[in-house]
Amino acid sequence: MQSVRLDDENNALIILDQTLLPRRTEFLELKGLKEIWEAIYHLKVRGAPAIGIAAAYGVYLGTKWPGADSFEALAQNFQAAKDYLASSRPTAVNLFWALDKMEKRLQSEPHETVGHALKALRDEAEQIRQQDEEMCKSIGEHALALLEPGMGLLTHCNAGAIATAKYGTALAPVYLGQERGYGFKVFADETRPLLQGARLTAWELSEAGVDTTLICDNMASIVMKEGKIGAVLVGCDRVAANGDTANKIGTSGVAIMAKHYGIPFYVCAPTSTIDKSCETGDRIHIELRPDFEVTEKWYEEPMAPAGVVVYNPSFDVTENGLITAIITEQGICYPPYGDSLAKLDLG
Ligand code: MRU
Repeated sequence: MQSVRLDDENNALIILDQTLLPRRTEFLELKGLKEIWEAIYHLKVRGAPAIGIAAAYGVYLGTKWPGADSFEALAQNFQAAKDYLASSRPTAVNLFWALDKMEKRLQSEPHETVGHALKALRDEAEQIRQQDEEMCKSIGEHALALLEPGMGLLTHCNAGAIATAKYGTALAPVYLGQERGYGFKVFADETRPLLQGARLTAWELSEAGVDTTLICDNMASIVMKEGKIGAVLVGCDRVAANGDTANKIGTSGVAIMAKHYGIPFYVCAPTSTIDKSCETGDRIHIELRPDFEVTEKWYEEPMAPAGVVVYNPSFDVTENGLITAIITEQGICYPPYGDSLAKLDLG
């Protein structure tokens, strides 16, 4: 299932509305920049790679929609669309990575015709989507080499097919293993407060016939202690140059528990998620989200006292020392990450 695609003929971005899953599988036709911004902000399209792909198509459409009779006018449309989309979510670096790639492509084009420049932007966005699919497949192969048939795997949030162009990152080895008869048993953390694990990962994996068990976030420790988990696999939103990694809130706690129980903790990261300009995790901007996601969402009535102070950081940073390996499409990076990540070709 393609969660993000371009319908160029109809001038629209088509996205799977991830907020309606698992009860309804509905696609939205987005025909305005504000709609795309809101779809990203409200997590209708979510997951770092999928956000990057949506932004690439979005900046192309946002350049095309207003129309332009000169290259200068087109460049202005582009800049306005880029700045606006860049303000939708702060943590996933793929958003900025994709927008910067689109900008470089526009700047490198000969300023011939407006049509020529638009085609270049569309081609670049398609390439970003295509590359993501290939990166995910390779991550899956590298990660699978670290796993044993029949293993119990724990994952947090959703780093699956719908969070990417195809296959997912942390779930890519699960899908490949499923095709090859590995018989993995996956434990999906529900992932409070937005329940990406319960709503999306449990749905995706069950649809694919994977042996899936849903647990509340506070049950990760007991399944580890009971020997049910052979490895933890998670995705990421930004990897700093020293290997500190931002991912969905709760990930760092899972990593601490995995270290306690001697369980390998793997981060699956396309190179589009590695931010060499960010020296350490302390410099990663952590998104704060609205209180109602904690106190009201999913409940028939508010479940916390009115006016209670809420803290709702959407991501946390897992320190590099807790990470066994970072699995990229170019290969597996081991500590010290300052050295192993520096060897990657980041374009
Ligand atoms: O807030 P979300 O749902 O966009 O957060 C997503 C995650 O934290 C994922 O683990 C990450 O983006 C990797 S998706 C391949």
